[in-house]
Amino acid sequence: MHPADEIRGEKSWDLKDKKIALCITGSIAAIESFHLCRELIRHGADVIPVMSETSTKILHPNTMEFASGRKPVLELGGQVEHVKICRNVDLILIAPCTANTISKIATGVADNALTSCVLVAEGSGVPILIAPAMHLSMYESPIIREHVDNLRKRGFTIIDPEIKGESARLAGKEKIIAYVKRTLNGKHLKGKRVLVIGGASMEYIDDIRFISNRSSGKMAISLATKAFEMGADVELWHGMVTERIPDYIPSRKFESVKDVFRIIERSKNFDFIIVCAALANYVPDKFDGKLPSDKDSLTLKLRKSPYVIEELRKLNPNGKVIAFKAEKERKDIEKKALDFLNKFNLDLVVANTLQAFGSEKSEIWIVSRRETFYLKGNKKTLAEKILLKLREL
Ligand SMILES: Cc1cc2nc3c(=O)[nH]c(=O)nc-3n(C[C@H](O)[C@H](O)[C@H](O)COP(=O)(O)O)c2cc1C
Repeated sequence: MHPADEIRGEKSWDLKDKKIALCITGSIAAIESFHLCRELIRHGADVIPVMSETSTKILHPNTMEFASGRKPVLELGGQVEHVKICRNVDLILIAPCTANTISKIATGVADNALTSCVLVAEGSGVPILIAPAMHLSMYESPIIREHVDNLRKRGFTIIDPEIKGESARLAGKEKIIAYVKRTLNGKHLKGKRVLVIGGASMEYIDDIRFISNRSSGKMAISLATKAFEMGADVELWHGMVTERIPDYIPSRKFESVKDVFRIIERSKNFDFIIVCAALANYVPDKFDGKLPSDKDSLTLKLRKSPYVIEELRKLNPNGKVIAFKAEKERKDIEKKALDFLNKFNLDLVVANTLQAFGSEKSEIWIVSRRETFYLKGNKKTLAEKILLKLREL
């Protein structure tokens, strides 16, 4: 067995049976293409490397043959590989893409196997993703800007580089993989606007102390990233989270329930609103400054806070509102979820137990008016199952 086959599907089978031409050009970021290739394979893809001559001076073709299990396409030959391969792949990913290759593709130059491959793919309707990498001054030059804009208009997807200091760095592999999945599997929620509200609220008792909870935001981030991969235009509103939020997910931070109410009107822009945030049910009257630290005891007065989901339902009579409900234990959980659904006239309730807080795995009950589905697994898998259910609403 080739080493590439040993890792295939290690992380997911989201790219199973997908053939991807990974086109590598002469940027120093070509050294990342080895890991990018392996990551694509870990998600089930079959990767065919196509390399420009300059890239082979930075990254040896043997390395890419080892990474992919396939001989890289290096030049135009009598076998017309560029035609055979590039019209029959599911996707072309140019990562990294130099200023030089961007300019060639923008103007239709086909003077090597890689640029010929891209031209064949474009003419055959194969989706093309470009992840540029170069010095910032090159990326900001008017001609490259113009070429990038034109390529977008021609239907190419540009995976924006990460601007750091003087560099327009190749996007991270997590972001590139998310774009690949969105391009290949994005039909499920294409054109749908999804708002996810997650994480823990923070209610200040004085200027520096607050009451919060153990919600990690993992489920919300999993839902937002999966919705992105499934083609949705997604936004994440989040309170305190312990997980990193991917930079390709547009997000807004809130602290208190009051903050959520300040932006809640914006929820009207969405088709689906998923609330998996742990929001305070009771909030303290905030003390200005710092509460004394030398008292024997201190009494805090908490007031019932308004329900965010009630307001979301009111503002979005035609949108679908989905809420998570945490229960202490499994007993009667389905019935409690259904009561909750009816009380707030929700479209779906996802019930879970307190074990879900902060953990990678969870068990959930997806409760609608018609039926209940019980599922167990890691939060990413559960996120996908929940999002697939939305389409039935
Ligand atoms: C070590 C090294 C690193 C380079 N890094 C980049 C880069 O990050 N981005 C870029 O646009 N060009 C970079 N270049 C310049 C390109 O290699 C050069 O423009 C070349 O003509 C690109 O050919 P290709 O687009 O066919 O691969 C680099 C060159 C060298 C020698």
